[in-house]
Amino acid sequence: MQSKDLVQLAEQFGSPIYVYDAEKIQSQYNRLSKAFSKVNKLRINYAMKALSNVAILQLLKEMGSGLDTVSIQEVMLGLHAGYEPEKIFYTPNGVSLEEIEEVNAMGVQINIDNLSILEQFGTKYPHVPVCIRINPHVMAGGNANISVGHIDSKFGISVHQLPHLVRIVENTKMNIVGIHMHTGSDILDIEVFLYAAEILFDAAKNFKNLEFLDFGSGFKVPYKKDDIETDIEELGKKLSKRFNAFCVEYGKELTLIFEPGKFLVSEAGFFLAKVNVVKQTTSTVFAGIDSGFNHLIRPMFYGSQHHIENISHPKGKERFYSVVGYICETDTFANNRRISEIKEGDILCFRNAGAYCFSMASNYNSRYKPAEVLWIKGEGHLIRAHETFEDLLKNQIALPLAVTAV
Ligand SMILES: Cc1ncc(COP(=O)(O)O)c(C=O)c1O
Repeated sequence: MQSKDLVQLAEQFGSPIYVYDAEKIQSQYNRLSKAFSKVNKLRINYAMKALSNVAILQLLKEMGSGLDTVSIQEVMLGLHAGYEPEKIFYTPNGVSLEEIEEVNAMGVQINIDNLSILEQFGTKYPHVPVCIRINPHVMAGGNANISVGHIDSKFGISVHQLPHLVRIVENTKMNIVGIHMHTGSDILDIEVFLYAAEILFDAAKNFKNLEFLDFGSGFKVPYKKDDIETDIEELGKKLSKRFNAFCVEYGKELTLIFEPGKFLVSEAGFFLAKVNVVKQTTSTVFAGIDSGFNHLIRPMFYGSQHHIENISHPKGKERFYSVVGYICETDTFANNRRISEIKEGDILCFRNAGAYCFSMASNYNSRYKPAEVLWIKGEGHLIRAHETFEDLLKNQIALPLAVTAV
């Protein structure tokens, strides 16, 4: 998709808006499938926490994707988008047994990540096929907040607790059909991934009825030109070979599962915001946009770098700008970034805005959330309308005057 299309969409639908390029999502999905084409049974479960608009779920469903979910509400959205329960995988962390029971009743594959719930669930439902999330304690991830495999992480059952885990499975006679791991996001080195996979293979040998191994995700995508990205093709070659050999050793053809979020949707997303004000101070030129961390929190939350372009005037002389939001807290998107000369009213485009951007948006400062548009076959389709004042009031209950009177 081209800059002129984005400018036209900002004019047509108003700013701020998120735009997603369907073709990019499809090509990433195909790229991953192709990299693992030597594995007979491959399943890709889209980690919908990255971007959960129903239209995006529908698009991926059409491609044959399953879903990775982390809450009962995500499961409900997946069912609403038309996914069969068998195509939905539920990997919660720290949720109640009641929620897990409710999701189980929907026919969705349960993944359990702590010994307490495993024992309670196994005692009550010994025949339900269950997956177990192992924490291999492999340090991966671009930032402490997105690295989940380390020793004091709250995620998964420590691989050091395997003997205890096996005892629970034997005592309850529960049915373990899968083993799962997810070490964190932004894995730079595929050797780290392969090392963690060996730990998963070792753990898998403790269970006789496995049907699948789920290797989670964490593939690093490029954020700028020549940026490092996970070499999916190389990983595909090496892991497929090792996986197929493991299946021979295990004596059964297992399914290999991945649950990518960022890899599928990050680069497909563009966030468009209008410059309200250009403010020159003694040391800095600020470009203040009609947005803030209420719409895109990743730069402030993780320190993530989103490439920013002035798509209204892409060919102007480059100058240094600090791009900031309109929230009444410091919400700096970028410090002293080289951007082609900005005039008030210009549209700035933030790249890599598909994953963990809209899905983390809020109404802070009582602002409306942005609209979302899907660009498909050369046309923009509104897939979420701009919010209105009614949306802010929805579910709020004003007190009767008598209660507030002094
Ligand atoms: C269990 C699990 N699976 C998959 C993902 C998706 O990771 P990514 O977006 O890096 O592909 C996450 C992300 O937090 C996760 O926690």
